[in-house]
Amino acid sequence: MVETSADVRVVVRRVRAAGGTIGLVPTMGALHDGHMALARSARRECELVVVSIFVNPAQFSPGEDFARYPRDLKADAARLLDAGADVLFAPTADAMYPPGYQTWVEVSRLSRMMCGRSRPGHFRGMATVVTKLFNIVQPDRAYFGEKDGQQLRIARRLARDLDFPVNIVAVPTVREESGLAMSSRNQYLSAAERAAAAALSRALFSARDLIAAGERDAAAVRRAALAVIAAEPLLQLEYLVVARSEDLKPQRSLAGEVCIALAARAGDTRLIDNVTVNVG
Ligand code: PAJ
Repeated sequence: MVETSADVRVVVRRVRAAGGTIGLVPTMGALHDGHMALARSARRECELVVVSIFVNPAQFSPGEDFARYPRDLKADAARLLDAGADVLFAPTADAMYPPGYQTWVEVSRLSRMMCGRSRPGHFRGMATVVTKLFNIVQPDRAYFGEKDGQQLRIARRLARDLDFPVNIVAVPTVREESGLAMSSRNQYLSAAERAAAAALSRALFSARDLIAAGERDAAAVRRAALAVIAAEPLLQLEYLVVARSEDLKPQRSLAGEVCIALAARAGDTRLIDNVTVNVG
């Protein structure tokens, strides 16, 4: 495990000099099978696998769960060792944001919609820390989960707009047996909330099935998904959009690759999920 960016740079330089490919898996820790799928993809495709664990204060809004966000560096390190990761980079907040810090990265349009509306500043914090990690690790490939669909698209846009020579690799969402997308925040759920939360993926799957059956009217697809969620009194929906996959612009008539994405609360816990469908 290394804490300083200088240590990371030493290892990265050595591997690159030998012609090796560098893979980066950015995380906030409390690792579950979703994170491990990213680490495994990186292991298959890269000579050096760097996993970062940093609960990034800049991407939490005041009143959110920064203080109680689950942290278990010891268990995380053991899992990563098991999965064959080479470097665990776990910097301190002071090292990432030294006194006087004032530089921010904003992917403007993509950050304003969907989760950006209810979490002002979230994607600015996320884009900033991802930029810093790209600069520290200089990866050839960086692994992001499809589960955080808006974040994945922001990472792609950021890499393209700021000329990072990095390939953004999307890894499919890993789900519980109930369909619930794995998330570090699932730890907050009571048994009843956890059962209710399974309706989120059911709603998305029913929307996907409707499209597969030939529906091309986005409003009809949206209504079908909304009905599944409305039947679950423990869930409060924040948004549900049927959008063009590439840039998340809402669509009326469906064509090409479509993303159906939602955010909802179960009690105090905010959950997100999405599916993509190729309409053809
Ligand atoms: P975190 O929530 O820890 O997630 C780290 C990575 O794991 C993200 O790319 C996320 O999409 C992926 N991931 C989470 N749950 C997943 C699941 N069920 N299936 C597949 N992949 C999953 O996302 C962040 O951290 C932060 O915003 C970060 C990118 C590290 C920047 O701080």
